[in-house]
Amino acid sequence: MDAGRAAGGINESPPGGEVGLGASRRAVRPPPRPEWRCELLDGAKVEETLLEVNNIEVIYNHVILVLKGVSLSVPKGGITALLGGNGAGKTTTLKAVSNLLHSERGEVTKGSIEYRGRRVQDLTPSDLVKMGVVQVMEGRHCFEHLTVEENLMTGAYTRRDGAGAVAADLEMVYNYFPRLKERRKSQAGYTSGGEQQMCAIGRALMSKPETILLDEPSMGLAPQLVEEIFGIVKDLNEKEGVSFLLAEQNTNVALRFAHYGYILENGRVVMDGPAADLRENPDVKEFYLGVSEEGRKSFRDVRSYRRRKRWLS
Ligand SMILES: Nc1ncnc2c1ncn2[C@@H]1O[C@H](COP(=O)(O)OP(=O)(O)OP(=O)(O)O)[C@@H](O)[C@H]1O
Ligand SMILES: [Mg+2]
Repeated sequence: MDAGRAAGGINESPPGGEVGLGASRRAVRPPPRPEWRCELLDGAKVEETLLEVNNIEVIYNHVILVLKGVSLSVPKGGITALLGGNGAGKTTTLKAVSNLLHSERGEVTKGSIEYRGRRVQDLTPSDLVKMGVVQVMEGRHCFEHLTVEENLMTGAYTRRDGAGAVAADLEMVYNYFPRLKERRKSQAGYTSGGEQQMCAIGRALMSKPETILLDEPSMGLAPQLVEEIFGIVKDLNEKEGVSFLLAEQNTNVALRFAHYGYILENGRVVMDGPAADLRENPDVKEFYLGVSEEGRKSFRDVRSYRRRKRWLS
């Protein structure tokens, strides 16, 4: 898994001119060896890397370069967070993995994406679902005119393991999301934002995935509901063994629930490390968690020259 990195993946050296976090990143990031990742997961054994994104570049409309060499890996059994502000490239990265860029005139023009060692760039999204990778899109995207239960059942359409197994998984989804059971006959379009997010995650679970690519689950939800949804994600990870690659702007909540994080800025990974280390990193605290020695402040309020000075020091 480390071949790309060892070969000098872009994460190793932020390009000159770009505001990068090289110095800080080196401080938080020991070499990502498998045994080291084992410690990350509180003793849970991580035997393999599922997803490996190597130095990818994505271009929209043949001219707009959005991802400029992104590398990341998702270990089996982990929750990996992909963090960054508006337009950083989080959704684009997830769509590159699940092959959803073509409909937006986007294309992976460099690098490679492998799942369990197999190149997946030429697979269709439904092939990928059969391999165990499913994406929950940003903004939920439930079928509004179907009921909650019909939405959930659409997630099982690629399965060939029989009605009994599907019915058992529907019960499993209702166990994790009791609200969905209460609303199962309601038209999805009339359910709340939180219920729609649960419905979208539940529908993904119905495909019996090994890995869920979850895009911005906190979007537009009240803080209490965000906690509830992240708590369920953690349970699914620990009890059902589902691995997650989670794109989030909400750095605070994501770093509390994830094991490992990557921070994207302007289409590049500028920092990565175990979530606990990122939470303690002064730059992450100041620019992403809104806390510094001088008290709370917004990332937007900080002049870029100050950021640059700090990162280069
Ligand atoms: N279909 C598209 N065509 C052209 N540019 C696009 C397209 N989709 C996204 N972009 C651009 O790519 C960049 C990254 O967008 P992306 O949606 O991946 O960011 P993000 O990190 O998910 O942001 P957010 O947190 O706002 O969802 C942005 O500058 C965006 O304008
Ligand atoms: Mg996005």
